[in-house]
Amino acid sequence: MSGKLIVVEGLDGSGKTTQMGLLEEAFHAKNILCRRVKFPAYDQPFSAPVRMYLGGEFGSDPGDVNAYAAATLFAVDRFASFKKIWQKDYQSGTVILTDRYTTSNLTYQLPKLPRSEWDDYLAWLLDFEYGKLGIPKPDLTVFLDMPQELSQKLLDKRYHANGGKRDIHEQNRPYLEACRESAHYAAEKLGWSVIPCSEQGALRSIESIHEDILKTVMAVLDKDKQVSE
Ligand SMILES: Nc1ncnc2c1ncn2[C@@H]1O[C@H](COP(=O)(O)OP(=O)(O)O)[C@@H](O)[C@H]1O
Ligand SMILES: [Mg+2]
Repeated sequence: MSGKLIVVEGLDGSGKTTQMGLLEEAFHAKNILCRRVKFPAYDQPFSAPVRMYLGGEFGSDPGDVNAYAAATLFAVDRFASFKKIWQKDYQSGTVILTDRYTTSNLTYQLPKLPRSEWDDYLAWLLDFEYGKLGIPKPDLTVFLDMPQELSQKLLDKRYHANGGKRDIHEQNRPYLEACRESAHYAAEKLGWSVIPCSEQGALRSIESIHEDILKTVMAVLDKDKQVSE
């Protein structure tokens, strides 16, 4: 028996943490057993290679670490988290709700490659993590699609509030713009559920985005329940 793995993807400041919190509350209200996981696992020792990369220790330009090498650093974080933190729960039927996953590699690493190599990279990455490393494939990936102008405004508030330092991705706006394009490519190739977070250039409300996400998630959980009954 295995559980379900639901991934929430989106660029920085697109509302992942906010929406994961609401989804978790909705699951509790429905008595659905769930566990929240977050990548990178900044508070764990096994995220050290990722922290070094994002902190600029291998170079301050994202391109200083090639797409394959960077993916490998992030894969260490995911593999270790699976083994140490959520494998047991997943295998005993708990719904695992993750903030980012293998899927984030596509968003953030594809912009480093020419478009003609994107299909090969995608096939390599899925085989590497799900095939060779053996971490589970998501049952659903929800992509929060928020335009840069809006997410940057939300992030400005966040960084202002905590005096936080931006990592090498977050401080590079043209790179982030390219990441939005690669996320759309991955969404189409892999059938992610795209949730628009804006309407005519303005933010949608947190509640209405939540309702869309919940509907999408419940459709996947209910469908699989019917099959197994
Ligand atoms: N639809 C929305 N409308 C207004 N504010 C939002 C919305 N979604 C997120 N926020 C706010 O934007 C900020 C960034 O959201 P967050 O959930 O931390 O994003 P992420 O986890 O994707 O980086 C937070 O302060 C959050 O409260
Ligand atoms: Mg977050």
